[in-house]
Amino acid sequence: MCGIIGYVGTKSAKDELLEGLKMLEYRGYDSAGVCCFEKGDFRVIKKKGKVDALIEVCQGQLKDTHCGIGHTRWATHGDPSDKNAHPFLSENNSVAIVHNGIIENFEALKGGLQKQGVRFRSDTDSEVIAQLLQKSKCESELKKVQELSNLLVGSYAIAILFRGLENQIFAIRKNSPLIVGKAKDGYYLASDVNALVDKTDEYHIMEENEIIWIDSHDCYAFDKNLQAVEINYHKMDLSKQDISRGAFEHYMLKEIMQVPNAIKQTIKECDAPHNPYMRIPREILKDLKHITIIGCGTAFNAAMTASHYARERDIIVDCAYASEYRYQKYLNIENEVCIFVSQSGETADTIEALKIAKEHNIPTIVVTNVASSTLNKLADYIIPTKAGPEIAVASTKAYSAQITALYGLMDYIYCIKHKLNCRSCILKDKLADVVDKLQNFNFTKINKLAEILKDSERVFFIGRGVDYATSQEASLKLKEISNIHSESLFAGELKHGTLALIDEQTTVVVIATQKHLFDKTMNSIYEIKARGARVVLVTQFKADSDAIDMIVELPCTDQAIMAEIAIYPMQMLAYKTAVLKGLDPDKPRNLAKSVTVE
Ligand code: G6P
Repeated sequence: MCGIIGYVGTKSAKDELLEGLKMLEYRGYDSAGVCCFEKGDFRVIKKKGKVDALIEVCQGQLKDTHCGIGHTRWATHGDPSDKNAHPFLSENNSVAIVHNGIIENFEALKGGLQKQGVRFRSDTDSEVIAQLLQKSKCESELKKVQELSNLLVGSYAIAILFRGLENQIFAIRKNSPLIVGKAKDGYYLASDVNALVDKTDEYHIMEENEIIWIDSHDCYAFDKNLQAVEINYHKMDLSKQDISRGAFEHYMLKEIMQVPNAIKQTIKECDAPHNPYMRIPREILKDLKHITIIGCGTAFNAAMTASHYARERDIIVDCAYASEYRYQKYLNIENEVCIFVSQSGETADTIEALKIAKEHNIPTIVVTNVASSTLNKLADYIIPTKAGPEIAVASTKAYSAQITALYGLMDYIYCIKHKLNCRSCILKDKLADVVDKLQNFNFTKINKLAEILKDSERVFFIGRGVDYATSQEASLKLKEISNIHSESLFAGELKHGTLALIDEQTTVVVIATQKHLFDKTMNSIYEIKARGARVVLVTQFKADSDAIDMIVELPCTDQAIMAEIAIYPMQMLAYKTAVLKGLDPDKPRNLAKSVTVE
């Protein structure tokens, strides 16, 4: 949620901050703002709306600036408005801050400050940070920042400027990511590495509770007791091309077109001589009794898809939404492993769920797409997906890479349990076939279907078994970017309630890739048609019935991994429908890519 950027150096701070905010915009885009030192004082410009609106108002402004902080917001406390946009200044304008996260005790802190006569200018939880720093009696700024971290409860990544300390930035973080970039011309702060590509060659991922103090020449790090700590720099391995839209109209389209390569690269990783599966000790896997796969949104749907694959291999898997797992009663299951799936590796609920599993001494494996992520730091074992940076809010290529990695993991576990040789990826050839078929996918029918759906009010996606998992993901994709009300259902459950909503205005997309379930799914089609709805069948099988209005033909591959193929046209369907409706698929209403708050 929210993106933070900071810069101090010889370049124009205004330019660096605005460029950084454009790269971070996928984290939130309700409002944006910057604060720079200008002739020794703070100059704040902020604006409701996307970063372009801020860029517009910054034109001709902030000409001679070399240090500043910026923010793009996804509202939690207080509506999206100029007033609630970051940065915030303290009452006497001596402190400026930007914040990502949630200050859970802000009401108590704010009440205390108001009693002392402090007047607040916004409805946010974040403003309290600037006011607390102003009120602090500590003798040094560093101590003020340390004291702040003891006062705040919740999650935060905060960048701070103090009037009088021109060209210096302080930063602190807890349960929310923040990265320092080192460049020839100065230093950067950013919520993620994407904002630092082409800017820095090296970056440091701030540790939990670490305090950072930077100026244009140096960066100092301290632990929570203000003891100096060493900074570990990583080499930047992303290029501008990895994170740019290139010739594509939207990031989402670029990323859908990259799905085949995301699968290919992930197989390559899983098939390497020292593949990541082999780092999981055999002792853990050989007597494994139960797996829980945990994630949010699309990552959860990937978990569900993989759970069907595992079941076919007699591996018992439960899936849990991270937001639910966190608060569930803990069951002491012997020989259990928890797998956490996350594109960003920064989703707050997933991180907290992992911490709970660790508290119970359950071995933790993460399947993530970002090597520098918090989940990777916390987990016992890491299975990387190789989708490359995913910028569009709606996840596409990461989903396909996640199920690829999970299939490989389930095969590996199966082999260990059955004492089989498991040095190479069993699915290698079958997945190569999938890659080939996806590269040549014909989207003509999808274009037609998008034309129909763009005027729909209601769409249902149904399926049985693994096709239900694909329906869930297809439905999520459509609703999140086209704003069409969409639901997914087990095909057999329609008649227990939802049929009441089926009429001539409804479109039902039926996903049917499992031979043994096909006839049963056809029964659902007849039930739907009898109520007058439009029926679209997505399948690799031949079907000829008056009850079907349109068939989206899928290329055929091994049934066990048909989900990799079935979701592909559904991702494109969501994209095309959103574009036909005139919506921006990369920045759907009310959503953000990285949900770092509970
Ligand atoms: C947000 C995104 C979704 C994503 C979910 C989980 O809601 O909009 O696209 O599936 O978070 O994110 P993660 O990074 O943990 O996979």
